[in-house]
Amino acid sequence: MVQRGANSIGLSGYFLNLLAPRRPRYGWVDKRADAHGVGKLWRFNMTRRRNIMLGGGALAVAGMGIGYAVLRDMGSLDDYEAAVATTRATLRQVPEIGDLLRYASLAPSGHNTQPWKFQADGRRIVILPDFAQRTPIVDPDDHHLYVSLGCAAENLALSCAARGGAGELRFDPSDGGSVAIEMGNSAPGTSPLFEAIPRRQSSRGQYDGKPVSNADMQALTLAASVPGVDLILISDRPQIDRLRDLVITGNSAQMADKAFVRELRSWIRFSPREAITTGDGLFSATTGNPILPAWLGPFFFDMAFKADAENEKYARQINSSAGIAVFTAEKEDHEHWVLAGRAAQRFALQATALGLKCAFINQPVEVAHLRPDLAKLIGLPSRRPDLVMRYGHGPSLPYSARRPVDVTMKL
Ligand SMILES: Cc1cc2nc3c(=O)[nH]c(=O)nc-3n(C[C@H](O)[C@H](O)[C@H](O)COP(=O)(O)O)c2cc1C
Repeated sequence: MVQRGANSIGLSGYFLNLLAPRRPRYGWVDKRADAHGVGKLWRFNMTRRRNIMLGGGALAVAGMGIGYAVLRDMGSLDDYEAAVATTRATLRQVPEIGDLLRYASLAPSGHNTQPWKFQADGRRIVILPDFAQRTPIVDPDDHHLYVSLGCAAENLALSCAARGGAGELRFDPSDGGSVAIEMGNSAPGTSPLFEAIPRRQSSRGQYDGKPVSNADMQALTLAASVPGVDLILISDRPQIDRLRDLVITGNSAQMADKAFVRELRSWIRFSPREAITTGDGLFSATTGNPILPAWLGPFFFDMAFKADAENEKYARQINSSAGIAVFTAEKEDHEHWVLAGRAAQRFALQATALGLKCAFINQPVEVAHLRPDLAKLIGLPSRRPDLVMRYGHGPSLPYSARRPVDVTMKL
């Protein structure tokens, strides 16, 4: 990542300040984001720009020409905002299948790969794995891929229920496994979790360190209760510190792995245009990082994405969180990974409904040799922990993009 830490914008941020369009503040970044050093990425330094204009003469004119070309290449944040708003529009009261699938697609997925294909037949919708969207380095056994299917399945079930088509999600183990829902005829019944679907996000900023109330903790536990999955909530500081150290050990291992870094870089979208065009991947702005032209991004990524800075950032982020949720399913198979995804998604939606933020910090489950340490830490030494998520009160960041639904339809 090009950011040198949650509160500094680094060299590329400086570069962006010179080139950024006239926009005092990016629409999505709220006031609290400023307090946490995120909003400042978008602030425009008028004085600096004026000085350059006056002092540079012909050079400045040439520079502006280049700057204009660069900005044109990047696309605009307004266009990105508009594209994302379309994908997050409120579900119609009488939705078409495509509307329901759009809501399913608002689920999280590892590296935002959206590794799902949908098949619709009458009132039956099937969610299948899309192996073309695998991330074989970080997720060699497709664990995250099936978790992501579970997250999308949960969104779909909540959406069907909200619009009068409640049905049960069923896992079919054949052909690698898929999840199906047969929509019934029920009374439409919206729910706080359903309402939260378009607002949920992986909020990777720094939180405010304040605890979450007991009532909210109870609501989170209740919402995430899915048979076959255990949720362990850690809010005791010494335990959080131990988990933080596991995250940092895992992150160091991943950053020392060239293949991991190469795969991650391939999913980063540095410019709004790239993010809109692909509709997938990790757009810099959604992680609090500066935007860059697509051709320049990888260069800055290689220069600025360093283990020490990333580890410091993770330490700050975890220290500022109210607690950490660890999800672990009873068994290690595709069906249970889907269940773990459903539980995590219900937790994240409930958190959103309560005005809380959350973000995955999965290094200790992705780096296989750290899993036993994490399993011991949560008091379930014989289990494979599935997911790790921090939560607390914090700022919003720009929403991430999604691919158009027709691209994810299997004919
Ligand atoms: C199985 C799974 C694993 C993930 N692991 C991480 C992670 O380790 N770190 C992280 O920052 N985000 C992680 N994410 C979050 C995704 O990057 C995120 O969902 C995606 O970029 C889409 O953004 P959104 O959640 O804001 O919609 C994970 C998501 C899933 C479903």
